[in-house]
Order: sequence, then C-alpha cells, then structure tokens
Amino acid sequence: MELKPGLSALVTGGASGIGKALCIALARKGVFVTVVDFSEENGREVASIVQKENKLIHAYARVPSAIFIKCDVTNGDALAAAFRKHVDTFGGLDICINCAGFVNKSLVYDDKSDGTSTWRRAVNVNLVAVIDGTRIATQVMRSQKKPGVIINIGSVAGLYPMSYEPVYSGTKGGVVMFTRSLAPLKRHGIRVNVLCPEFVQTNMGEKVNRVLVDALGGYLKVEDVVKGAFELIEDESKAGACLWISKRKGMVYWPTSEKEKNYLVYSSKSQRKSVENRFPSIQTPEYFQKM
Ligand SMILES: NC(=O)c1ccc[n+]([C@@H]2O[C@H](COP(=O)([O-])OP(=O)(O)OC[C@H]3O[C@@H](n4cnc5c(N)ncnc54)[C@H](O)[C@@H]3O)[C@@H](O)[C@H]2O)c1
Repeated sequence: MELKPGLSALVTGGASGIGKALCIALARKGVFVTVVDFSEENGREVASIVQKENKLIHAYARVPSAIFIKCDVTNGDALAAAFRKHVDTFGGLDICINCAGFVNKSLVYDDKSDGTSTWRRAVNVNLVAVIDGTRIATQVMRSQKKPGVIINIGSVAGLYPMSYEPVYSGTKGGVVMFTRSLAPLKRHGIRVNVLCPEFVQTNMGEKVNRVLVDALGGYLKVEDVVKGAFELIEDESKAGACLWISKRKGMVYWPTSEKEKNYLVYSSKSQRKSVENRFPSIQTPEYFQKM
C-alpha cells in the first residue's frame, strides 16, 4: 500500500515511544491518524503534533486530521468503540498498528499476587489486546471491501527467550505466531505483519538492563523501527511476515526461507494449498434456508 495523503491509520499506544514516532511519521505522509492510548496528556499532545504535520499537506481539510481516544486496550468494548469513532471520523480504516505494550519487571515465579497488575496485565495488553485489535481491524477492513494493512508490534523477545522477563517474552512470541498464522488473509486484501525490534530508548526500553542492551550493540534508533513498519505497509508481497530489526544485522525477515525449510513440515505455500484443499469453497444452494 503506497503511503499517501488521505489514508487513515489507527495506532494503539500512540502516546509515547515507538507508537508516537509512528503517528508523526504517518502524518508526514499526509495520513490521518487516531491515537489510542490511556495516557491522556501525552496522547492529546501527539494528536496535536500530527495535526500540525498534516496541515502542511492538507491545508484545507474538513475533518480534524488526527484525533485522540482515551482507551485501555484491554477493555474490548472501549477498543471496539475507538475503531467505530475512527471510521465515523475518517470514513474507513487503511492501516492499524497494534503497538500498546506493557512490561512487568517482577519475575512470574516470585509473584505472590493474582497478577492483575503484573503478569496477567502483560498478557492482556501485549497479546489479548493485539488479537482483539487485529480481529476488529480485520472486520472493519473486510466490510469496507478495500485493502488494509495491520502491523502488530512484537519484539525480539518473541523470537528468542528472555529469561529476565519470561511473560513478556511469551506474549511477544504469541504475537509473532498469531500474526504469521494470518498470512492467508491476504486473499481478502488484508496484510497482517509483525515487527520485532531489539531495544529502543523509550520509557519501556529504558527499563531494560543496560548490560544486555550494550551486549546487543546498543539502542536502535526509533527511525529504524519506523522504516521497518513502513516497509511492511508498502511492500505488497509481505503478508504474515515477521521483520526482525537489530543493531547488529539491520532488517532481517524471520525465519529466513532456509530456516523455514528446516522447521516446517510444509513450506508456507504448500501449507496454504493444503488448507485450501481441506476447506474447498462450498457452494450453498440459494434455497438452502427453505430446505
Ligand atoms: N522499547 C523497546 O525496546 C521495545 C523493543 C521491542 C518491542 N517494543 C514494543 O514496542 C511497543 C511500544 O513500546 P515503547 O517502547 O514505545 O514503550 P512506551 O512505554 O514508550 O509506549 C507504550 C505506550 O503504550 C501505552 N499503553 C500501555 N498499556 C496500555 C493500555 N492497556 N491501553 C492503552 N495504552 C496502553 C502507554 O500509555 C504508552 O503510551 C510495545 O508493544 C513494546 O512491547 C519495545
């Protein structure tokens, strides 16, 4: 999908860090943006920066070019309402970026709480809400019968184990496999891809042990993450793709086709074929209901 003025994007976690950088970079392309976050002050500030950037491209826009919606993404009704408000404001949805994230510093096996504000929250924000956001975005995009792109923000912690934060690692691994499993949605014009950056110096990234960050070559620039996201939006061939961005290797699609051959019983192409064969399109007779 060519990033051009007039498209619209909804970004969760858009009030800070990577989400904020994505909102501003989209605005510089003339894309209308809905910033979804529970941090109101920061979210409103990002929406106003987006409006200023957008004004340079859409001098006489009739609608606001950016809105902020205060929403906890773990609240399914509130998240669905945010998508409805986006569609009502911008008349459709071209891009959805599920970026809101939560990291819990305490180790799950030392945690004596019920997890509501610790590990269970991490699962709900990082995985459940990403599934929900993808589900709602897919339904909106299918109903408008126009192509759409969904980017889920995973992490390098979803590609290899991170023993200092096992639950975070588990949620991001879930996001990676969930997204890769959605490659067949391309048949409906919807491409869902996952971005897995190593460490970026944001509020969240600063919580990571500096020794680990240095061992991986230091922090990535947020611009590198934006570049990766834009590649996944613009490259029409990418569906169910997982893009790993690291300081040491740059942008690498994971698994590489060589690795995929080693670990998969079927290549993704033959797997798709076998799924199609298992569920051939059924021609329901028009009089089925009467029967
Ligand atoms: N910073 C890194 O090193 C790094 C590396 C890989 C992946 N990531 C991922 O990138 C994404 C963005 O992280 P970041 O580094 O920009 O962190 P950040 O803390 O700067 O931003 C996260 C944003 O998500 C919002 N948020 C959190 N929980 C929410 C909820 N329940 N409802 C609504 N909004 C919520 C926060 O208010 C914040 O604005 C996350 O998914 C994170 O896991 C970050």
